[in-house]
Amino acid sequence: MFKSVVYEKRRARLHEIMKSGLALFIGNVEAPMNYPGNTYHFRQDSSFIYYFGIDIPGLAGIMDFDSGKDIIYGTDFDLDDIVWMGPQPTVKELALKCGVKQTSSLSMLSEIINKEKTKKRKIHFLPPYRGETRLTLGSLLRENPCQLDTSASVELIKAVISMRSIKEELEIKEIEKALDTGYDMHVTAMKMCKPGVNEKDIFGALEGIAYSKGAGPSFPSIISINGQTLHNHSHFNILKNNDLLVNDSGAETDLHYASDITRTIPVGGKFNSRQKEIYEIVLKANTESIKNAKPGLSNLNLHLAACRIIASGLKDLGLMKGDSDAAVKAGAHALFMPHGLGHMLGLDVHDMEALGENYIGYKSKTARSKQFGLAYLRFALPFKPGHVLTIEPGCYFIPELFAKWKKEGKFKQFINYQKVESYLDFGGIRIEDDILITDKGNRLLGKPIPKTASEIEKTCATK
Ligand code: GLY
Ligand code: MN
Repeated sequence: MFKSVVYEKRRARLHEIMKSGLALFIGNVEAPMNYPGNTYHFRQDSSFIYYFGIDIPGLAGIMDFDSGKDIIYGTDFDLDDIVWMGPQPTVKELALKCGVKQTSSLSMLSEIINKEKTKKRKIHFLPPYRGETRLTLGSLLRENPCQLDTSASVELIKAVISMRSIKEELEIKEIEKALDTGYDMHVTAMKMCKPGVNEKDIFGALEGIAYSKGAGPSFPSIISINGQTLHNHSHFNILKNNDLLVNDSGAETDLHYASDITRTIPVGGKFNSRQKEIYEIVLKANTESIKNAKPGLSNLNLHLAACRIIASGLKDLGLMKGDSDAAVKAGAHALFMPHGLGHMLGLDVHDMEALGENYIGYKSKTARSKQFGLAYLRFALPFKPGHVLTIEPGCYFIPELFAKWKKEGKFKQFINYQKVESYLDFGGIRIEDDILITDKGNRLLGKPIPKTASEIEKTCATK
């Protein structure tokens, strides 16, 4: 945990923004994997971590914006628990670590909420994303658990997003720690990326690094020679020459800040000429975007500029044709890059996504596009100093998407279907880095991970 003053200041700021009513934060509980006693790796709720920092299951926090009081609700461990788990701190001791002086038994929470409800006080809560939290909230608030998404407090959602979007210095340090681990994971993958090696071998090695240095991976690692499947979570292939391995993986620090990096590695350590040509296009989209990101520029415009780089590079190779700007405007490039340029990063790898993507990345003036590809852009707003984001352009050859568009004759004026057909065994390339928006521009976070084709080839060749 950070020092208690960090959490005290954050809560004081939320009190200032919210002014009245009370906010109920439900911490996560253990989630059973296959029977109650056999649980998934515990992950605390990120907003709970942000305001209270306590990383154990079964807690709730209340902030009363009228009285200014904060209270933690929990259950002290009994002797039976201690026999199995060893000595544990009391709820009071835990609460003091984040500067909360008042604690109460979790069994009192229902009564307290009921009392506040009869006084007609507004009870703000964030949208639940886990079934357990949904049921707890439903029973505490006496509301239909299925309807809690619409009754979650937009005022609280916006207040929390306004705070968590701007990273503090100590949060940036944590993200850079996660990137140190990411560096080790990615360099290890490059060294292991040889014919005959199983994707699973690399997957296991990287998960091991993430657990040995922190709290584990920040999301299920994507380590696949079928990189054209954007979120490919199967790792059963054996690498062979001329394959490209997409390694999209990151780590969480012990305090749960994330990194998210993608590198694409040629199996055997040398890009062939066809791979290198596409690689250079994606690399240009990555480096130009990083060069240009600065306060005031919107991620929507940065995304569109990256798409134009991809489209004009593919035009140079004869895979696309016509005017590249018009192709991007129409959405034709999405055959090759059907996702957004990047997303916010912090305590969640897609930071705050549980609070609602459109609250984070869009405003009424910047409505979300419905166009295929652009619709997946998670963050479209102008950058502000303190934002931490990923920059992750890609280029993919997705046979199923190709077949559908070809059959429909879609964007025939922009796509050279005949030539693209000869790339359907290519796979995909994605190159992803994490940046901090500063007062004047941005800073690449973490120590640079081999990225140019020659840097990657050199790293692949080292032991
Ligand atoms: N790293 C996976 C993603 O950004 O979706
Ligand atoms: Mn990402």
